[in-house]
Formats: sequence, C-alpha cells, structure tokens
Amino acid sequence: MWGKLHIHHEAVENRRFETLFDVKRADDFTASVGDMRLDYAKTNIDERGRALLIDLLDQVDLAGKRDAMFDGTAINETEGRAVLHTALRNLDGGPVMVDGADVMPEVLGTLDRMEKFAADVRSGAFKGQGGKITDVVNIGIGGSDLGPAMGVLALAPYHDGPRCHFVSNVDPADISQVLRSCDPTTTLVIVASKTFTTIETMTNARTAKAWMGESVSDPAAQFAALSTSEDGTAAFGIDAARVFGFEDWVGGRYSMWGPIGLSMMIAIGPDAFRAFLRGARDMDRHFQAADWSENMPVMLALVGIWHNQICGYSTRAVLPYDNNLSRLPAYLQQLEMESNGKGVSMDGEDLSINSGPVVWGEPGTNGQHAFYQLIHQGTRVIPCEFLVAARGHDDDLHHQHQLLVANCLAQSEALMKGRDLDEARGKVADKFEGAELERQAKHRVFAGNRPSVTIAYPKLDPFTLGQIIALYEHRVFVEGVVLGINSYDQWGVELGKELATALQPIVEGADASGKDESTAALVGFLQQHGV
Ligand code: F6P
Repeated sequence: MWGKLHIHHEAVENRRFETLFDVKRADDFTASVGDMRLDYAKTNIDERGRALLIDLLDQVDLAGKRDAMFDGTAINETEGRAVLHTALRNLDGGPVMVDGADVMPEVLGTLDRMEKFAADVRSGAFKGQGGKITDVVNIGIGGSDLGPAMGVLALAPYHDGPRCHFVSNVDPADISQVLRSCDPTTTLVIVASKTFTTIETMTNARTAKAWMGESVSDPAAQFAALSTSEDGTAAFGIDAARVFGFEDWVGGRYSMWGPIGLSMMIAIGPDAFRAFLRGARDMDRHFQAADWSENMPVMLALVGIWHNQICGYSTRAVLPYDNNLSRLPAYLQQLEMESNGKGVSMDGEDLSINSGPVVWGEPGTNGQHAFYQLIHQGTRVIPCEFLVAARGHDDDLHHQHQLLVANCLAQSEALMKGRDLDEARGKVADKFEGAELERQAKHRVFAGNRPSVTIAYPKLDPFTLGQIIALYEHRVFVEGVVLGINSYDQWGVELGKELATALQPIVEGADASGKDESTAALVGFLQQHGV
C-alpha cells in the first residue's frame, strides 16, 4: 500500500519545493470550507504525490468507514461501541440509529436541559446558598477538562457568564489555588467524568465537597455532574435534576459538544454554544460531501501522513497566531496522541509504519522567542501548522493584529525559503572578512525547504471554533483509518493507572519489596523527605 509513495518520496525528497510554485499552485493546493482556508502549498506534495495519497483512501475504504461512523456502526471495535460525537451537533439532521433506536431525541432533550440550567445559572434563577453564582469550578481531567478549558479560553471575548475555573490535576496545588479564589456560598462545582471513577476527579470532587460543606448546609445542592454513570452520580449525592448524562458512544476526548461542554455553555451562553455546534456541523457536512482533493479534514490528514509516515518527520508543531487558542496544542495532544498513538492495527497486527506523530506547540509569537530556533536551524525537520485569523477582537488594536499576521506569514515564508550562504555572507560582509566571514556566515544560514500548512479564517468566533475542532477530529479519524488502527480506544493509559493504585499504599508506608530497585529507592528517598 505504501510502496508507490515511498518510491515517489525518494525521487522528490531532495528538491526544493519552492520550485513547484506556478500560477496555479497557491490555489490548487488549498481546501476551503466557507470562509476558512487550508493552505498546504508550502509542502513538498506535488500533483503525483497528492494523487498517490488520495489513492490510499480508496484502498482503506475511507468513504465506507466515514459513513459507518456517522451511521452509528460500532467502529470502536475493541470496546464494541459506536463513535457518535457527530450526533451531539446534529441539530438539523435526521435520526441517528444505534442498536435500532434513534438517539437524537435524547441528545436534543439533554441539550435543552443543559440550556435551561445554563440560563438559570447565568440569570440567577439558580442560586448558591449565598446568592447568585459567581464562579463555576469544572472538576475533570483529560477529555473532561481539556475541551471546555480550551474552549472557554478560545471564546474569552464572548464570555459574559460567571467566572470559570478548571481543576484537573490530583496535585493539591491545583484545587487549593482555585478554591482559594472562590466563595463557597456562590460557587457551582461541576464534576465532569464520563466514568465517574477517575481517581483524580473523584478525589478532587470530594475535596471540593468538604470545602463547601464548611460554609453551606447542603453542599451537594451546589454540585452538578456530567457523566454516563447514573449510579455514580447518585452515590455522590448529586440530585438527578443536575445530572447531565451521555452515552458510551461519546469518547472522552470527543465530548465537548455535549454535557462535558456545560461550563463553556454557562460562560458564553446557550446561543453562542449553539453557534459552536453549528460550526462543527458545518465541518461534518463538508467532510461527508466534498471530493477528497477539496476535503479539508482529508487533505490535512494526508499532509500529516505524508510528513510523518512517508517523510519520517515524527513530530508536528501546532502554532496558533491567535492567543485565545493557547490551549489548543494541549487539547490536540490528547485528541491526536490518545487517538492515534497505537502500535497495533485494528486486526491485532503490529503496525509496519509509524503511529501518529508527537504533537506539541505554543502560540505565536511567543514560540518565536523560545523554540523556533530549533524549527529553523535544528537538524530535524518539524512540520508546522499555523492558525491565523484575519481579525482579532480588539478593533482599536488592529495595528497589533496586523503585526501578528505579518509574523505568522513571515514564519512559513522563512521556513520555505531559508537563507543561503551567499545571502548570509551579505548580511555580515561589512563586519568580517576571510575565514571569519565564512564562519560567521555559516551560523546565519537557514536550510529552508521546511514544510508548513496554514489554516486561515476571518475571526475566532464560536462558529469558527466549532469548525476548527471538528476539522481536527475528522483529520484524526482519516489518519487512523489510513493507518488501520482504532482511534477510539485508549488502552495505553491503563497500565500506569493500575501501577499507581498498587503504589499508593507503598508510598504511604507499606512494604516495597516487590518493586524494582529503582522504584523502591525512589520511594525510600521521598519517604526520608516526608512523603
Ligand atoms: O485516562 C484517560 C482517560 O480515560 C481519557 O480518555 C478521558 O478523557 C479521561 O481519562 C477522563 O475520563 P473520565 O471522563 O471518565 O473521568
């Protein structure tokens, strides 16, 4: 399946892709959805490379698998589950069947309940025991934290509800800092956990309940829960009226569209949250209908496959020139690495090719003054993904926004063009000569020929954020299908959880003799110092 692509890659790997540009390339090597544009012209993918990549899609029956996902087939085969986060934003769509039953009435019913509750919290119709809710604390981890935490920050200009805080880490530093800044009599605590068993979340939830219990007579009355576990939420004492449920066909890292998005809905209001869902739905429809070469998630995925599996570039940097997207790289780390960090194919065979890449990043321009040195002159090639809006939210500071945009475009240009030795010499010829000139010039050379893609859009509003997140979800799906893996399980997180549970009594003083010597010695050291 990969042979022709490898042969093609060998033939083109040493050329400068800048030479591929003709009058058509800048438009041909883009995909658009409404006003959003993905530019992948600054890569070494040419017509033949693109055609070979697209050929992969037929070989793996991408269309059939995509339709199976949207139709509610149990494509998460290792857990026997459907994968239907798309149903959560299917506001105007028809029925979605799982095991012979339409799930949409329940999805829309839960959305209505969430909207009513969010409106009540925002208006003051739902009160804390000391008055109107001033602070919302979402306690959750992984997919029960990263989505809403990223989304609340991304949509900060639309945030007109109570303050929102996110507690995820079991490290007491996290919860104690948040609780110190809140008044327990006017705080709503949302316990977000699909399983309602995650040890970090349940530990933090109990801590928050005890904290609230010191100030109000009925702490559970200021708690809400987002979970698939009715028993778990009832046992915790949370009234069913404030429990927002969902089904196991919503994966944790794909769950911000439903109840897990409640904190975000309270922050920005139900109307803006619906706009966010509509943006995702817009991307879903595009993904379902557009030809592969015009299909934004598909082309973003194929660029990823080209860079990681064919060129062997094992990381990718996500670089939002949009400060409100500063948590997007962290969000994508879970979405992409928990989904596609698998070494075994769906049928249990070892993968013969790299699994998904290491994803990392920080907002530009901050990254420029930190790690871009390595991106430009390090020995590894790191494909970059830039995100940039035409406009910010501060019209009076538009000149600053223009500077931001110029920086974004300059980086992709610099990565592509680089600076050769002659030009580098010219930069320092007035200061040095002879061997010293050569030495100094060499340090100022940029190899260039480094690929990047740019996702550009008018403004980061709720609709656009929905488009962006759904774009990345479908990109992960396509990459997973091409690799033949199950993007929807996460067995790789289990071993550490089991060992942590076994280690807890040892850390607290039980016998460490069954442990390896390094672990036992570290326990001993930490005990000597007071753990
Ligand atoms: O440990 C990984 C994980 O299972 C993620 O997949 C999930 O998003 C996170 O833990 C939190 O799980 P839960 O929502 O059940 O608390």
